Amino acid sequence: MSANIVIGTQWGDEGKGKVIDILASRADVVVRSQGGNNAGHTVAANGETYKLHLIPSGILYKDTLCLIGAGVVMDPKDILGEIADLSARGLSFDNLKIDPRAHIIMPWHIALDGLSEKFRGNKDIGTTHRGIGPTYMDKYERSGLRFYDLIHPDIFREKALSAGKLKNAIITNVYGGEALDLDAIIDEYIGYGKQLAKYCADVSVLTYEAAKAGKTILFEGAQATLLDIDYGTYPYVTSSHPVSAGVCVGTGVGPKIIDDIYGVAKAYTTRVGKGPFPTELDDECGDYIRNNGHEFGTVTGRPRRTGWFDAVIVRHAVRVNGLSYLVINKLDTLGGLDTLKVCVAYKRPDGTVIKDFPATLEELEGCTPVYEEFPGFTEDISGIRRYEDLPEVCRSYIARLEELCECPVKMIGVGPERDQVIER
Ligand code: IMP
Repeated sequence: MSANIVIGTQWGDEGKGKVIDILASRADVVVRSQGGNNAGHTVAANGETYKLHLIPSGILYKDTLCLIGAGVVMDPKDILGEIADLSARGLSFDNLKIDPRAHIIMPWHIALDGLSEKFRGNKDIGTTHRGIGPTYMDKYERSGLRFYDLIHPDIFREKALSAGKLKNAIITNVYGGEALDLDAIIDEYIGYGKQLAKYCADVSVLTYEAAKAGKTILFEGAQATLLDIDYGTYPYVTSSHPVSAGVCVGTGVGPKIIDDIYGVAKAYTTRVGKGPFPTELDDECGDYIRNNGHEFGTVTGRPRRTGWFDAVIVRHAVRVNGLSYLVINKLDTLGGLDTLKVCVAYKRPDGTVIKDFPATLEELEGCTPVYEEFPGFTEDISGIRRYEDLPEVCRSYIARLEELCECPVKMIGVGPERDQVIER
């Protein structure tokens, strides 16, 4: 038995899907505990590529229990679309369960996500426009609609009408937008509730029972540490807790059941959306990494911003998440560059050097990266499966990342396929 967490250490898109899938193939239970369909996990298995948004990766295995916990926000229309698409490709949903406490993303959340972003002008966050922030706002304001409500039409009609009226007043009077047709929306969503009702089950109980029965459990993280509402680059973050502690709250289990926490990083850094990015490369080298690593968003298709590996950030992730191991993905993408750089510290405008990631954007502003340089490599490493077989320069690069981040590297990704990984 083991219960492990997989977390992103940077700004998301670290290739968690691949690591999760490797671990999911060995798990009896896979749990999603936060975020929503703002996530996009690309998983390559059996020669097929799957793009998962809310459905846990365990769905690729017919006997794996797939759980969506209380901390998740769910767009019913979107998840039904995902279920339909994946069912058409032969996957079964008999083992999917969704917690009755999970909050529901309604059309007014999506509308308000867009309107508030527009209102922010050039200070917009660059959200995925999936309604994530407004849904968590309602949850914490204690006026949200939950999965239990959605599958009980009378309760849902009353709560949704009251919530929708208030949202329409905000949409029209504050933002000058168009009111939504509440009756039509409520009828439509009651229909979704009927289709989803069979998946309702208490995920806290199921996870606890699975742990007691000695099952292998995988908690799959979405988004990443630097997008955490508290420990990320606020306000350029998502509205949930993608850090390891968020898993316990979002599933309804205590921290003592967790064994290992894997933090996934790329051998470089990427970011979508706005916000600070100290090691960003706005040059040919950044373009090379973007094109070589196919760095375009799974959810929105946006080109990702690219930059060098930032050990200050990953060390922050090691601390905040209590990481047991690091996974360094896409080392192969760096092949062909003459020199590799790693940010080992930040220099403040007053010349002082800091090694811990600043708590606020104000303190981060004006910080410039202090780099260490490494020779590049030109060998094709995508076929290598043993650490010892990597070129010497790659091994020194990994060894230095371990030292700087203060965490052992357990896996190294050398290509997109599931077997293109070196496990140590
Ligand atoms: P939201 O989660 O849609 O509110 O977006 C907030 C910020 O988080 C934006 O910068 C998004 O681009 C980013 N974000 C949200 N989900 C992901 C993800 O799964 N990968 C990478 N970035 C994400």
